[in-house]
Amino acid sequence: MKKSYNFAIVGATGLVGRTFLKVMEEYHLPVASLRLFASEKSIGRKLLFAGKEYTLEALKEGVFKGTDFALFSAGSEVSRLYAPLASQEGALVIDNSSCWRMDENCALIVPEINISDYKTHGRIIANPNCSTIQSVLPLKPLDDLFTLKRIIYSTYQACSGSGKKGLDDLERCERGEKPLFYPYDIAKTCIPEIDIFGDDGYSKEEMKMVNETRKILHRPSLKIAATCVRVPVPVAHGVMIAAEFEKPVDVEKARQALRNYEGIKVVDEPKKHIYPVSTLAAGNDYVYVGRIRKDISSDNGLILYTVGDNVRKGAASNAVQIVKKIIEEKEKENA
Ligand SMILES: NC(=O)c1ccc[n+]([C@@H]2O[C@H](COP(=O)([O-])OP(=O)(O)OC[C@H]3O[C@@H](n4cnc5c(N)ncnc54)[C@H](OP(=O)(O)O)[C@@H]3O)[C@@H](O)[C@H]2O)c1
Repeated sequence: MKKSYNFAIVGATGLVGRTFLKVMEEYHLPVASLRLFASEKSIGRKLLFAGKEYTLEALKEGVFKGTDFALFSAGSEVSRLYAPLASQEGALVIDNSSCWRMDENCALIVPEINISDYKTHGRIIANPNCSTIQSVLPLKPLDDLFTLKRIIYSTYQACSGSGKKGLDDLERCERGEKPLFYPYDIAKTCIPEIDIFGDDGYSKEEMKMVNETRKILHRPSLKIAATCVRVPVPVAHGVMIAAEFEKPVDVEKARQALRNYEGIKVVDEPKKHIYPVSTLAAGNDYVYVGRIRKDISSDNGLILYTVGDNVRKGAASNAVQIVKKIIEEKEKENA
């Protein structure tokens, strides 16, 4: 990468925002300038990036002029208001909230799968839901091999998925205090409720997994159902995937295709206690896949288990990888 670019981060003080800064440094993004934004209460505070201090600013008209890439992670309301402003002022927006994901003008991207979708959509790119990212990544090579027919997801989602308030509640409950955010003591129980429930009994998080999987894989009528559960883990979600295919499945072919796919590490020797666990994924950008086996209740079914760091590959790193691939593509075109 030769040229350098002007960046803005909205929600820079949050769990994902701070991870943006860390990952941008790790990935050596060519940063010419950087502006950081957060809520009123943080204005004037300073954050470090690449050894230099940056002051947090307030969002207002004009702040995105001259910005090449604006990374948003300040929740849906902020994205609804300010992502269109940023794109009108010339920035390419990568948004971590759920606000724009299903908008037909916005690409929804996992860079290993569908980076080229950004060319056929508008200037707001949506980053998918964290559990969806670590699920579609292994499903893509399996879809290519055997053609997906139906998916059942069961998630085991870490408390950092609720942002700082989720992690704080886990620590609070571990100290023996009452939860302030979750409806039950998250240190002692799993909670089968993530986001708001609809009248059909499915939560918004569950429907995000259904709709986003279809959009990323370009399979609008794929049959999918999900159950999402919060578990007493600080970082890295687990997802159990039961997938049914049109063609007969072969476990060894599946394992090989997963090993060869960018961004995936296969860890699958269960008798030696080698399988995906949250602590393996926490702090890095791989999706770990294991417990790969035939579904004995289905003719052409596979069952697998994945773990991924929800704050990194599930949010910040996926967004930074999108930016990196777009920069590389632009530079190839201009070479
Ligand atoms: N955590 C995850 O695993 C994860 C994964 C995928 C997607 N996401 C999405 O990423 C976004 C942020 O999540 P998070 O976990 O980083 O949450 P968080 O730790 O609670 O951080 C929220 C950030 O938003 C800022 N903010 C709040 N209101 C604002 C306003 N009115 N104007 C400007 N900034 C404002 C906060 O600034 P102050 O510090 O000043 O309050 C803070 O920087 C959410 O949309 C979430 O759904 C999170």
